[in-house]
Order: sequence, then structure tokens, then C-alpha cells
Amino acid sequence: KYIEAIAAASDEAALEEVRLGALGKKGEISLKMRELGKMTPEERQTAGPALNALKDEINAALSARKASLSDAALAERLKAEWLDVTLPVRPQRQGSIHPISQVTEEITAIFADMGFAVAEGPQIESDWYNFDALNIPGHHPARAEMDTFYTHRAEGDDRPPHVLRTHTSPVQIRHMEKHGAPCRIIAPGRVYRSDYDQTHTPMFHQVEGLAIDKDISMANLKWVLEQFAAAFFEVDEVEVRFRASHFPFTEPSAEIDFRCSWVDGQLKLGEGDDWLEAGGSGMVHPKVLEAAGIDSAQWQGFAFGLGIDRLAMLKYGIPDLRAFFDADLRWLRHYGFAS
Ligand code: PHE
Repeated sequence: KYIEAIAAASDEAALEEVRLGALGKKGEISLKMRELGKMTPEERQTAGPALNALKDEINAALSARKASLSDAALAERLKAEWLDVTLPVRPQRQGSIHPISQVTEEITAIFADMGFAVAEGPQIESDWYNFDALNIPGHHPARAEMDTFYTHRAEGDDRPPHVLRTHTSPVQIRHMEKHGAPCRIIAPGRVYRSDYDQTHTPMFHQVEGLAIDKDISMANLKWVLEQFAAAFFEVDEVEVRFRASHFPFTEPSAEIDFRCSWVDGQLKLGEGDDWLEAGGSGMVHPKVLEAAGIDSAQWQGFAFGLGIDRLAMLKYGIPDLRAFFDADLRWLRHYGFAS
């Protein structure tokens, strides 16, 4: 009767029920086995082996049935979970690095090769770091020219408001204050000015450079910029021109131009009669060194500031800066910045 029940069990739970009924602690066969003790030796001699044989037979039937049930279950699953691996995949849109981040990484790698470490500072900056320490006192016209975004102070709080940093130059001060001289750093990051047209966005990116040592000169500055321009635009050589300029935090100061040409709207670096404006630079003003706690009688150095977005526009031939920050997927795909 057990053999029939085993054959009829349709799943493992049903099978287990049959097993318990027969061989479990209170199963029929187990109880009969226990009764052997009360039998006479003669009775036991026939009943014992018979029961054992029965038990073996049931066990064998149980495991055979169990195996065939699990085979069936596996076959069932294989049928249900069948996949056609020859089907073509559905295209997956992938995210990618934003062109500005990509260009920032390239710039960082180029300067790293020349021994420049990366420094950072806050985007919400105090009046002191953004202006005063850089020799831009309260009345200075440079403050107005920078189209500064100011934060708001509570009523009755007379301290000067914080600003959204208008350039990466405050990182010069923060770095020198903390690490002293000598130093050699770049500081890439976001800066803010209230300005908006085809080549200006209220948030944009600069990379600051700063090298302080005992005998650093404009010649070192020029060489560093030449190396950078050649590496960034992937040409053998780029001529750098210094154009006399003025910044409160450098003396002397120079506008940085790279020699280039425009052929059919295509930029070519390193040759031609045009000049590409790349940023500002100069020898760090002694007052700036002193404001950062550095002895200007012992130390000197250069600083520069380059516009990252502009470099990216030029490298990728993108005419409108604003598009960089619109997060328009069609635009990103068009320029190959997204798939
Ligand atoms: N901070 C200047 C600007 O934003 C650029 C600059 C940096 C000039 C360092 C000289 C030295 O216009």
C-alpha cells in the first residue's frame, strides 16, 4: 500500500507525508518495529527480517520517487525559464562623462605631468578670500566688473556677505595659508558671474595655476603655458604671447594668447596669424603673498587663470557655451558626449 502511495505522490510534500506515515517516529512501520521487543524470539525471527525488508523496500521506493520528482521539476523549470540567447539585444543608452569634466581631467593630467598637484576651495567664498586677500579692496572697480553674486545676511548682521566665488584665485590664498611655500598647484573648479550670452554663462569653469619658489620667473610661466597648450591641443608646439594687462593680484600682469589660425571656421593651434585669448596671468603680487602669510622677501612665483569652458568649446568646435549646461540629450549625442 505504501508503494502505491509513493508512486501516486505528485510532489515532494506529498512524498514526505507518506514517509512520515510509514517510517516517521509514529509511522506504522516504526511502531511495528517497536513491538518486536514484546514478541517471543521465534516470532521475532520471522517478523524482524520481514519488517526490515519492508522498510528497505519503502526507502528505496521513496528515494527513486524523489529523484524522478526533482528531475521533473527541473525539466519544468528549464522549459519555463528558457531564453533565446540568439535574440538581438535591445540597445542600452549609456551615460558618459560630461565634456567639461572630461576636459578638466585632461587639463589636470597635463599639469600633473609637470608636477602640479590639485587644490580645491569652496564655491561660496568669503569677501576676504575672493577679494581683499587678492589685493582687491572694498572700493576697487574690479569688484563691480566681476558681476558678483552676493549671498544675503540676516537683518542687522553687518559683516560683509559671502559671495559665489567669481574666480578660482581665492584657492591661491587658501592653499598658501595652509601649506606655505614652496608650492605648485592647479585649482580647477566652478566660478560664478552674473552674465549670460553665447560665450558667457552665470556658472562657468576656471583652472587656476600657482607656483611659488625662490626664483620663479615669467619665463617659467611661459614655458609651462607652452607645454600645456601643445599637450592640450595635441600639436608639437604652440607659441605663447604675453599681452600687458592688469590684475590687482599680479605684478606684472599678462593676458595669455596662443598662436593659432582659423581656416574655414576650423581652429588650428600652433600656426597662423591669429591669437587665441586663453586667460590671465602674472607674478603673484607681494601683497597677496603677505596676505597668505608668506614672506615676500624670500618667495616669489607666478599665477594664471584659464577658462576651461572656452578651451572645451575650442577643442570640440562648439559655438554656444550655454548648450554645455542645458543637459539636452540630443545636443550631447550630436557631439558624441552621450550614446
Ligand atoms: N582671476 C583672474 C580672472 O578671473 C585670472 C587670473 C588668475 C589672472 C591668476 C592672473 C593670475 O580674470
